[in-house]
Amino acid sequence: MVNICCIGAGYVGGPSSAVIAYQCHDVNVTIVDLNQARIDAWNSDKLPIYEPGLEEIVFSRRGKNLFFSTNVDQAIIDADLIFVSVNTPTKKSGMGAGMAADLAYIETATRRIAQVATTSKVVIEKSTVPCRTAQSMRTILEANSNKDIRFDILSNPEFLAEGTAISDLTKPDRVLIGCLQTPEGFAAQKKLVDIYTRWIPQERVITMNLWSSELSKLAANALLAQRISSINALSAICEATGADVDEVAYACGTDSRIGPKFLKASVGFGGSCFQKDILNLVYLSEQLFLPEVAAYWKSVVTMNEYQKMRFTHRIVRTLFNTVTHKRIALLGFAFKKDTGDTRESAAITLSSYLIQEQARVAIYDPKVSAKQIMMDLTEPGVGTNEETVKKHVEVCESAYEACAGADALVICTEWDEFKMNQLDYQKIFDSMQKPAFIFDGRLILDAPKLREIGFRVETIGKSV
Ligand code: UDX
Ligand code: UDX
Ligand code: ADP
Repeated sequence: MVNICCIGAGYVGGPSSAVIAYQCHDVNVTIVDLNQARIDAWNSDKLPIYEPGLEEIVFSRRGKNLFFSTNVDQAIIDADLIFVSVNTPTKKSGMGAGMAADLAYIETATRRIAQVATTSKVVIEKSTVPCRTAQSMRTILEANSNKDIRFDILSNPEFLAEGTAISDLTKPDRVLIGCLQTPEGFAAQKKLVDIYTRWIPQERVITMNLWSSELSKLAANALLAQRISSINALSAICEATGADVDEVAYACGTDSRIGPKFLKASVGFGGSCFQKDILNLVYLSEQLFLPEVAAYWKSVVTMNEYQKMRFTHRIVRTLFNTVTHKRIALLGFAFKKDTGDTRESAAITLSSYLIQEQARVAIYDPKVSAKQIMMDLTEPGVGTNEETVKKHVEVCESAYEACAGADALVICTEWDEFKMNQLDYQKIFDSMQKPAFIFDGRLILDAPKLREIGFRVETIGKSV
């Protein structure tokens, strides 16, 4: 029996390791974390993250070949392969603050492996990290372990997207495994290839050198985010000219060299990866004395910030240049549909701008708790303090409750339950102040139908 340990029971480590256990019943998978509450949640009926299809997988293998524990040391000792899947947030202070990844958690986990391992291990870097992190991990492991055991490092970046994690993991476009180009490196790589090829066709398991693999993860996220910033930049031109961004995206996407995906204009991209990974790439470019390259990638983030600001200005301008004391219903707080995750969500920036304009913001999201919303809005750097947030923000139990008495309704997240056939927009119209405004930041609504009801509708990438 192969023993796998995954250090870090978060959005990446949890689902990715659970799927290995689900696909390979003869592989023992133990997911460990220092956070007792998180592990308790993984062992309970209510898992700590919401992801369609995840419960079925966890409930069917938990206690059989899938275990969640806080006993990090024992799991390391027992493991043949160790995934390192801890958080790598953007540094808040010091060198590279606001850009570079904080590798402290990776280093702590790596040192722990070196300290407690009694047999040779394959250590797999799963968290997204700057290039050459594997080199640092190797140096730490070799300097701290005894001579009889060896550590081989692999890079196996995760490409799952939240909300579709389980299908991304069971049917990935590709799996990337990078290794040192030595006989030992290839042998370690083969051990991981042999696990993935149990359910993924061989040709989709791509092998390459460590540094290419590390860079590919940053590059893929940067390219995806760049497409969104490109279409968002075009959405500004559309609004100013009368072109329709959906039509432009469709026309461009049908060119097979461009392709249709990731061309949906929006209020701005969010999530824990895009901004963080681009800033990593910017920092790396600066460190390599490539300022033009750094500036090029930085502009993707700048455009995203501009989009959020532009959308807020449109709201204020349309509401007769003032939102002071007006009730604005914000539908959706998660950074995309089908997840309860709010990290870097455009809704946070939007709420903060509206609060600064003295609006009363009524927020509803089907999967985000009031506690989380309050935490996000009072984080340092968001620009609002607790007292102001309490005064200006109301978290509601339904879209109808949020919209009652509101001057405007703003779609921030593209949840299916906000679509035309799911919500009764006539009922919403009747409950709102007049004129009643709708701002569709996700292009999910039928503006002509809403105008028939009586709404004034403003949509990203479309002029009225
Ligand atoms: C382009 C568009 O492809 C075409 O749809 C439009 O109608 C006119 O402009 P063209 O300029 O003829 O066509 O050639 P294209 O194949 O697009 O190449 C343009 C340049 O990009 C060339 O210098 C080519 O070498 C370069 N290129 C293309 C790259 O450097 N890398 C690539 O991956 C593709
Ligand atoms: C992303 C990558 O897709 C994934 O491969 C990587 O492993 C982690 O980062 P994730 O952040 O979970 O995944 O979600 P994704 O679907 O990529 O969406 C990111 C953001 O872009 C969301 O806010 C989404 O709403 C936005 N988006 C996406 C658009 O605005 N338009 C689009 O066309 C696509
Ligand atoms: P991601 O989105 O990359 O999965 P998360 O923040 O959701 O990131 O999860 C990372 C997890 O790693 C957290 O639950 C954190 O407690 C855990 N973690 C961080 N450092 C260590 C460590 N040294 N040992 C065990 N778990 C750790």
